[in-house]
Amino acid sequence: SGEFDFIVVANRLPVDSVTGSDGSQQWRLSPGGLVTALEPVMRGAEGAWIGWPGAADVEIEPFEHDGIKMEPVTLSESDVECYYEGFSNDTLWPLYHDVIAQPSYHREWWDAYLAVNRRFADRAIAIAAEGATVWVHDYQLQLVPGMLRDARPDLTIGFFNHIPFPAYGLFAQLPWRKQIVRGLLGADVIGFQRSADASNFSRAVRRLYGFETKGTRIWVPQDPGNDSQAGSPPARKALKMRRVVARHFPISIDSASYAKLADDPDVKARAAEIRKELGNPRTIMLGVDRLDYTKGIRHRIKAYGELLREGRIEVESTTLVQVASPSRERVATYIALRDEIERTVGRINGDFGTIGHTAVVYMHHGYPREEMVALYLAADVMLVTALRDGMNLVAKEYVAVRSDNDGVLILSEFTGAADDLKQALLINPHDIDGLKDAMMQAIEMPAAERRRRMRALRRRVLENDVTKWSQSFLEELRHNSTASPLAE
Ligand code: G6P
Repeated sequence: SGEFDFIVVANRLPVDSVTGSDGSQQWRLSPGGLVTALEPVMRGAEGAWIGWPGAADVEIEPFEHDGIKMEPVTLSESDVECYYEGFSNDTLWPLYHDVIAQPSYHREWWDAYLAVNRRFADRAIAIAAEGATVWVHDYQLQLVPGMLRDARPDLTIGFFNHIPFPAYGLFAQLPWRKQIVRGLLGADVIGFQRSADASNFSRAVRRLYGFETKGTRIWVPQDPGNDSQAGSPPARKALKMRRVVARHFPISIDSASYAKLADDPDVKARAAEIRKELGNPRTIMLGVDRLDYTKGIRHRIKAYGELLREGRIEVESTTLVQVASPSRERVATYIALRDEIERTVGRINGDFGTIGHTAVVYMHHGYPREEMVALYLAADVMLVTALRDGMNLVAKEYVAVRSDNDGVLILSEFTGAADDLKQALLINPHDIDGLKDAMMQAIEMPAAERRRRMRALRRRVLENDVTKWSQSFLEELRHNSTASPLAE
């Protein structure tokens, strides 16, 4: 066994490789909820992070960045196509987001998923000290807990799913549904964003394996590999049982560091500058997302366009700023989505824009955190209209930075965040008229009501930050560990 006592296994390393203007290679923190969530946790611990550097065929030795030991896993061009773009993001991603887009099922993709999961697991097996804790993250690596359990019963194994877990009626489509459930059951604790996700998973366990579940607990026979038992519950007395906990741990953000950035004079000045550059409109509405079909970007642009068309708002007074950061750009559904969004933005701007006033200010690139916080501060109305989202951290970031207790959050009820952020204007993004009414309500909301709502929202987000999230997960993991010492 190896040297590390605490290991994070995630598809991505928390850094991207970038080439500087002088040609030198540098590392930069990458976007996405997972990284935002775990970076502060890792910095405090003596641990290692196993992940992919983000480009094909990159072979690099382990290195240290910002106090975190990085253990890079190489993916070939074909791994990227079949494991990452294919099975992870063209099979699991749409399936787990309630089939908003049609999932594709290809046996070669599954083979690659299995092989790459094996590679991540083997690295953890090699570097984990005896009795180490390994925390595996997200839908790209659902087979890893089972692989770790088989090879290293001394490990304490956690898994956290950052995205939704679908209802059984949808999950059942997956030709490899039993292998996925079996892989996840290798963990001592399986964490989900919402309680609904955890119960969807428990139901899949009952339906596919017939194991006993009670509340958040699942009893798994020590050797659940024998698939012939499916359907008939194994006699609990006869087999040695291992207890697995499946429950929700809603993820959050590093709230204090966001709040602090919002008080930075440079960031505040930048927020004022953004308002000015946009022509000082009365209302700035803002959307910030990865360019993904789960985010409901089309729905909010459509609603905004209809309000302009109906004359309920005017381009001089109400601007929509949409930041859509590039994501999974070679996957066909993402290419089609980008085309559609850019066509729609072009049409609205053509119809309603004037010299000096653009209706939709659209940007297809990411920004550093400081610029994002300045944008949040400049925005009167934040639009989070996801059709399905595990949590949605943008909603929490917007709230965390509004130390002025101003700004209105419009939030889709189909996000994990909506379970907690009840004082937002909760909307159904499929209901375009309802969304338009919520936009008007936000635009016209009296200052006192804005303050009352934002205060309540801020209390939730500042109390429940990402440190609390990881601590409560790791505490449950310690409590429920079934690790047994390695044989001499
Ligand atoms: C979501 C997923 C993460 C993923 C991120 C960015 O937040 O839960 O696992 O890292 O999107 O997507 P990407 O495919 O670029 O890693």
